[in-house]
Amino acid sequence: EGYKCLIAANAKEALAILEKEPIKVVILDLRMPVMNGLEFIKLYRELHPESLIQFLMITGFIDSNSMRLCFKEGAIDYLYKPITLEEIKSAVDKGLEKYSLASEYRRAWNKNKEKLVHAEKLIKKKHLEMVQLMLQMVNARDKFTEQHCKRVCEISGIIGQKMGLSTHLIAKIKLASLLHDVGKIAIPDKILLKTGQLTPEEYKVVKEHSQKGYEIIKGYVSKEIAEFVLYHHEQFDGKGYPFGLVAARIPLGARIIALADIYDALRNYRPYRRALSKEEAVVTLNKEAIKYDPIVLQALFSATDEIENKVFSKTIEKSG
Ligand SMILES: [Fe+2]
Repeated sequence: EGYKCLIAANAKEALAILEKEPIKVVILDLRMPVMNGLEFIKLYRELHPESLIQFLMITGFIDSNSMRLCFKEGAIDYLYKPITLEEIKSAVDKGLEKYSLASEYRRAWNKNKEKLVHAEKLIKKKHLEMVQLMLQMVNARDKFTEQHCKRVCEISGIIGQKMGLSTHLIAKIKLASLLHDVGKIAIPDKILLKTGQLTPEEYKVVKEHSQKGYEIIKGYVSKEIAEFVLYHHEQFDGKGYPFGLVAARIPLGARIIALADIYDALRNYRPYRRALSKEEAVVTLNKEAIKYDPIVLQALFSATDEIENKVFSKTIEKSG
């Protein structure tokens, strides 16, 4: 694929390679001989605090605590064993993209810090204005969707915190959460507001909303945020839409939004069922756990009390 790939049998060898070679992305196992993956990243960060190397973790077991600590040290994502070549390719691409964005940012920062801080403030303000405008548009069509987007934003933020993600990444995930269903603007009223069962044709139209949302926002937000929206109905087992992506091929932010989205749906009334309690929602998610990223699911389960207090203590929607 045109990548130069170097292999190290243990942490010592890896450190020696990193000293000599211009490495951009490191893929490492959480469990390694001599020094585990977390210890390795910690040590490397201590030795080279300025390095922009992107770390991707590989894990054979669901260890959300270790992953949380890896995120704190700057890991960008994780892959579960067994890993396919496709997954590695997409993870490396993601890592290289992040590396070049980080280098660009570093260059701009060194050149003119004040200007960049000012530009960031401006972008933040524009983002807020755009989100408010879009939510108003969604609200004008369908009050339920606006409230749902706000709750999904809060739930995603809490999950992100539990996972130990950076405040920067959490902010991006929260922005995408607010916008995740904006594509519903393009769904005809008779389908969007229908209370009865959708026909297969109608469901096909509803499913277009993630792509339509992506098209609407892509010119206004970063590619990363737009993609969180595009992939928010992908499933970990590959049975989601629009592309049927599997596991780590789905961006981490989209994996989080997908679960926050379904948790909110379960905790609220639907025309075909009552709102489930927290405990019932957990049982339901456990039954269909294959659809979700196990580490994200674990983070959600550890946060249900906090979510109840912060998100659902006010009211549960009584209408669809
Ligand atoms: Fe959606």
